[in-house]
Amino acid sequence: MLAQLQELLDQGRASAAALTTAAQLDEWYSTYLGKKGALTTVLRGIGSLPAEDRPQAGKDANTVKVALEELYRARSEAIEREALQAELASGALDVFLPGRPASLGMMHLSSQTLREITAVFSRMGFGVLRSPEVEDDNTNFQLLNIPPHHPARDMWSTFYTDQPGLLLRPHTSPGQIYAMKKFAPEPFRVILPGKCYRYEQVTSRSEMMFHQVEAIAVGENITMGDLKGVLTYFARAMFGSERKVRLRPSYFPFTEPSAEVDIECYLCEGKGCPMCKHSGWLEILGSGMIHPQVLRNGGYDPERYSGFALGMGPERIAILRHNITDIRYFFGNDLRFLEQFA
Ligand code: PHE
Repeated sequence: MLAQLQELLDQGRASAAALTTAAQLDEWYSTYLGKKGALTTVLRGIGSLPAEDRPQAGKDANTVKVALEELYRARSEAIEREALQAELASGALDVFLPGRPASLGMMHLSSQTLREITAVFSRMGFGVLRSPEVEDDNTNFQLLNIPPHHPARDMWSTFYTDQPGLLLRPHTSPGQIYAMKKFAPEPFRVILPGKCYRYEQVTSRSEMMFHQVEAIAVGENITMGDLKGVLTYFARAMFGSERKVRLRPSYFPFTEPSAEVDIECYLCEGKGCPMCKHSGWLEILGSGMIHPQVLRNGGYDPERYSGFALGMGPERIAILRHNITDIRYFFGNDLRFLEQFA
């Protein structure tokens, strides 16, 4: 009996050492200590021993039972501890991993272009003014020589609000009125950059929101020659010193005479290509000599003062400089586009 018990304990000890999972441990328990386990079988055999041997056998069996139970407890603790350690190790924070690099912001291409334009004009002595994006009909149209119901209003597809007379400006030209009223009757020159809105089909060539930069100069003896000089300086600063500039007669209600300004196509250098629609020229802005009535509306006597104004789209300028195929990229927030200009 004793030998049998000893063997049972040895076996139990050896097999317990190899247990690694809770399921294996359960199985081990039923093999050795369960109702149908090895120890129970041995205990059952005690009854058939001679009466004088039974107490000793019972004692021995109990010692082995306690030893097996202790084995079970120790192994079960060890397995639990190992499982916990494995779990901790797998979810561990490695404090030595390098951090994720913080992504540095960059200036939007429109802002970059606006800054460049501002820099070029400031070299010619132009200051910078801001004017409202939500505008009234009077400043946006009437003071610029565009009466209500005049067909010239169709040149600007305008967002109107449900408040009568209040609209989103479709161009920065109402800024001319603010600038003149601010400086009258002194001579001045400023640019007015800002956002504009147009109620138009959004296409690769036109967005419903975009920027414009208005430039205006008012003083005595300001002529079309001054306008042309400023335009040439600007175009060469932005597009290269060899770039040819052309003024083409045009119409705006608030300038007289008016001119649209083209630069020689930089892709084909004037030979004609799809970019310039085979004309050799690319339109970059509208301009003209401020209409006498508009000067008067701004507080200047047109007998004494004259001035020029021009308005350009910085997105259009960036499109031409970088050969961008679609204006919608500017405000589509796609980093793959924006990061090209970092
Ligand atoms: N405001 C005009 C436009 O948006 C451009 C312009 C500005 C023309 C100044 C003449 C003088 O089309």
